[in-house]
Amino acid sequence: MSVQITLLFLSFFFFGLTLTLSAATCLDDQKQLLLALKHNLTFDSSLSTKLVGWNQSVECCVWGGVTCDKSGHVTHLDLSHETIHGPIPSSQTHWKGLKSLQYLNMAYNSLTGNFPNSLLTTLPSLDDLDLSYNRLSGQVVNHVSSDELRLRNLDLSSNKFEGPIPGFVFDLAALSTLKLSGNKFSGRLDLDRFGKMQELYALDLSYNNLRVSVSANFSLLSKLNSIMLASCKLQEIPDFRNQSRLLMLDLSDNNLSGEIPNWIWDLGDGYLRFLNLSHNKFSSLEKPYTFPFLLDVLDLHNNYLEGDIPVPPRRVYHLDYSNNNFKSSIPVGFGNVLRSTLFFSIANSNLVGVIPESIRNASSLRDLNLSRNALTGPIPLIGNLKDLRSLDLSVNMLDGSIPDELTNLTQLLFLNLSYNHLSGRIPRFQKFTELSFEGNEGLCGLPLKKSCG
Ligand SMILES: *[C@@H]1O[C@H](CO)[C@@H](O)[C@H](O)[C@H]1NC(C)=O
Ligand SMILES: *[C@@H]1O[C@H](CO)[C@@H](O)[C@H](O)[C@H]1NC(C)=O
Ligand SMILES: *[C@@H]1O[C@H](CO)[C@@H](O)[C@H](O)[C@H]1NC(C)=O
Ligand SMILES: *[C@@H]1O[C@H](CO)[C@@H](O)[C@H](O)[C@H]1NC(C)=O
Ligand SMILES: *[C@@H]1O[C@H](CO)[C@@H](O)[C@H](O)[C@H]1NC(C)=O
Ligand SMILES: *[C@@H]1O[C@H](CO)[C@@H](O)[C@H](O)[C@H]1NC(C)=O
Ligand SMILES: *[C@@H]1O[C@H](CO)[C@@H](O)[C@H](O)[C@H]1NC(C)=O
Ligand SMILES: *[C@@H]1O[C@H](CO)[C@@H](O)[C@H](O)[C@H]1NC(C)=O
Ligand SMILES: *[C@@H]1O[C@H](CO)[C@@H](O)[C@H](O)[C@H]1NC(C)=O
Ligand SMILES: *[C@@H]1O[C@H](CO)[C@@H](O)[C@H](O)[C@H]1NC(C)=O
Repeated sequence: MSVQITLLFLSFFFFGLTLTLSAATCLDDQKQLLLALKHNLTFDSSLSTKLVGWNQSVECCVWGGVTCDKSGHVTHLDLSHETIHGPIPSSQTHWKGLKSLQYLNMAYNSLTGNFPNSLLTTLPSLDDLDLSYNRLSGQVVNHVSSDELRLRNLDLSSNKFEGPIPGFVFDLAALSTLKLSGNKFSGRLDLDRFGKMQELYALDLSYNNLRVSVSANFSLLSKLNSIMLASCKLQEIPDFRNQSRLLMLDLSDNNLSGEIPNWIWDLGDGYLRFLNLSHNKFSSLEKPYTFPFLLDVLDLHNNYLEGDIPVPPRRVYHLDYSNNNFKSSIPVGFGNVLRSTLFFSIANSNLVGVIPESIRNASSLRDLNLSRNALTGPIPLIGNLKDLRSLDLSVNMLDGSIPDELTNLTQLLFLNLSYNHLSGRIPRFQKFTELSFEGNEGLCGLPLKKSCG
């Protein structure tokens, strides 16, 4: 019995060993191709962690950034963060033999020159191409028929590409991720053009020079999980009502105005987690509304929102209501719903009234910014907010003394209590200068020059 088990174990062991070995033995032609490729790439060998180790004496499937299949063909090449500069070698000889290459990642380098369209011509198996965070420029041209391309993920974000969004991408029926943000793509674009991409999961067109529009019945893309359309010159809010998988939506920095429609909170069948509507001209939230339970990032800053301050869902960890025009006061129990919140700002929003005591229950807070309002009353007791790194209460009408327990906030790196009506002796903080306390007539003691006498 035990012999049998041992034998069984041994055979598994050898079987496993053969598998690992064969998976790790790269074919000589693949090795020579990669070495020639390395030879044609300019990079800083003192900063490189992958390319620098590619050499004849080591088996190429264990080189940094290289993955092979069982037959020893290279399938994945990850050359991200390798300080590569200059153009992507375009010669056919470099890529042609890599016929099993599915994944090519050259993100976060300093690549220059044009879009290497020969990659698409020579790499028939490529389904994942990431050239983001480089300095590639010019128009993206491609002469290969989209029917012959297998691309599923294309990331060209944060480069200097210009001109219209290349037509071939709209015909890539298998495309799952398309990220073109942070370039200089220009022209008008209707989202309907993405209608063929039934597999589309993530779309990012943010921060280009595009003028994006959405015709009335855009609805087909049923798998969309993330839509990023920041700075797309949108004039009206696209009707994404039927996007039942949507978890992330960014419509910031557009020209959207009026009410925030209440259907937006039902997106993704109520599973919306990230919403950025900042830098628009919204004036209110359409009522009645119920925030989705799972929403954890809600950014409404830089709008014209008026009236009641919306009470966020309890899981929100990033909440930005700053630079609005609420003209109201913070609800009494507001701090009790911020128990998981790390970042909360409602600065510069025309708030009146006092800072509610419940803020001490927002015990996860790292950044709290209530500056530039007309808040009155005392600074609440928040010595228990142990993770607080920045506290900005400047330019309000707060009075009373600075609570001693603020000195218990050991993580605090930034404090601004300037331009209020605070008075009395400043407690003994270790690190802050007078810039944190100026503009309070009644305050005295270090670091201010005025002594308490
Ligand atoms: C080849 O690379 C390996 C591992 O990075 C290194 O230990 C070895 O010294 C290199 N050999 C030569 C000849 O550069
Ligand atoms: C690659 O390097 C060889 C030799 O250094 C050079 O002749 C060739 O022009 C280079 N090709 C590309 C595309 O950079
Ligand atoms: C909506 O789509 C249908 C068919 O796809 C089309 O006939 C109709 O004109 C479209 N309506 C609008 C308002 O775009
Ligand atoms: C949403 O889907 C329903 C049912 O499939 C359809 O009747 C409606 O027109 C769609 N609405 C939009 C805005 O696409
Ligand atoms: C929301 O969008 C604005 C402008 O596009 C950006 O500055 C901000 O960082 C975004 N907020 C979040 C939480 O990502
Ligand atoms: C923004 O929208 C308003 C109408 O809501 C329009 O008058 C204005 O021209 C638009 N601005 C830009 C820059 O498109
Ligand atoms: C608080 O918000 C105001 C207004 O948006 C901004 O000017 C200030 O820099 C913020 N304070 C901190 C510490 O980020
Ligand atoms: C803080 O939370 C505790 C426990 O949930 C609650 O009893 C208390 O009333 C809250 N404090 C304020 C000021 O709301
Ligand atoms: C502040 O810290 C001191 C010593 O660490 C402790 O005795 C005191 O109770 C704390 N005060 C508050 C209000 O947390
Ligand atoms: C606090 O805010 C005031 C008013 O905006 C500013 O003058 C001062 O420099 C700020 N202090 C710090 C430490 O940033």
